[in-house]
Amino acid sequence: MSQSFLPLCRPAVDEQDIQSVVDVLRSGWITTGPKNAELESKISQHTGAPHSVALSSATAGMHLVLLAMGIGPGDEVITPSLTWVSTVNMITLVGAKPVFVDVDADTLMTDAAKIEPLITDKTKLIIPVHYAGAALDLDPIYALGEKYNIPVIEDAAHALGTEYKGQPIGHRGSCLFSTHAIKNVTTAEGGIFTTHDAELADKVRRLKFHGLGVDAFDRETQGRAPQAEVVEPGFKYNMPDICAVLALGRWIVSMTSPPNAPSLHSLTALGLSQSKVLRHLVWLLTITNTAGT
Ligand SMILES: Cc1ncc(COP(=O)(O)O)c(C=O)c1O
Repeated sequence: MSQSFLPLCRPAVDEQDIQSVVDVLRSGWITTGPKNAELESKISQHTGAPHSVALSSATAGMHLVLLAMGIGPGDEVITPSLTWVSTVNMITLVGAKPVFVDVDADTLMTDAAKIEPLITDKTKLIIPVHYAGAALDLDPIYALGEKYNIPVIEDAAHALGTEYKGQPIGHRGSCLFSTHAIKNVTTAEGGIFTTHDAELADKVRRLKFHGLGVDAFDRETQGRAPQAEVVEPGFKYNMPDICAVLALGRWIVSMTSPPNAPSLHSLTALGLSQSKVLRHLVWLLTITNTAGT
């Protein structure tokens, strides 16, 4: 088998990352603990969102957010047809109906004008998707949400480090980032929920760990009582520290673009439409792969 000339999204793991995982393994605290706390704090620092919750995946986060928002049978959720199946699966699994909105051929993302005609009195949530590291045009989407009193959850699986109008994604609203192996920053598997809504954050934090008000790390560090009170039935969607630590090593590097490296944003700023840039990249991959065989 020929080796890929330019592999798509190969994770960048260096010796420092490997050592940091070994250090966590030796520390005696390998599941959710100090590295999760550090990751959540760094994400809040970067995004400006006061609440960050590290999770086992963005998919798990979507499940919890839908439940925490009380989305269920009889409800409609608008989301783009160009997305990953996990979002649609979660909407369906909580008993709601996914309503697909089209994307723009140039940006590969949806917009407020496409969403508005799909709104009915059953619409309970809009989940637009930031695509491939580029940002949605958020202002009109939030304005639409306000006009109809429908909340927005940004699917920011591809958008950790992405900016909109000079502010990082997560600076407003509620977002779900993915740190899966092929994402901008990886923890192998993982997701991070950010929000400005303290109540929603509390619900997600509780639901991610059996519906308990506290987890083992809370009890260890804060000595909180009662030891284990099940506030409501919950899940087991927490991120282990051996994963969380991987994002910490990459954090500074990935949030600062190397000088002169053209990003998708800078290419689009040059006047190239995003789909043209993407088509060009696909074409480049095709010819380089063909050349390499
Ligand atoms: C647009 C989008 N949303 C959600 C997800 C789910 O992320 P995760 O794999 O962390 O569950 C992905 C993953 O590829 C994605 O591309």
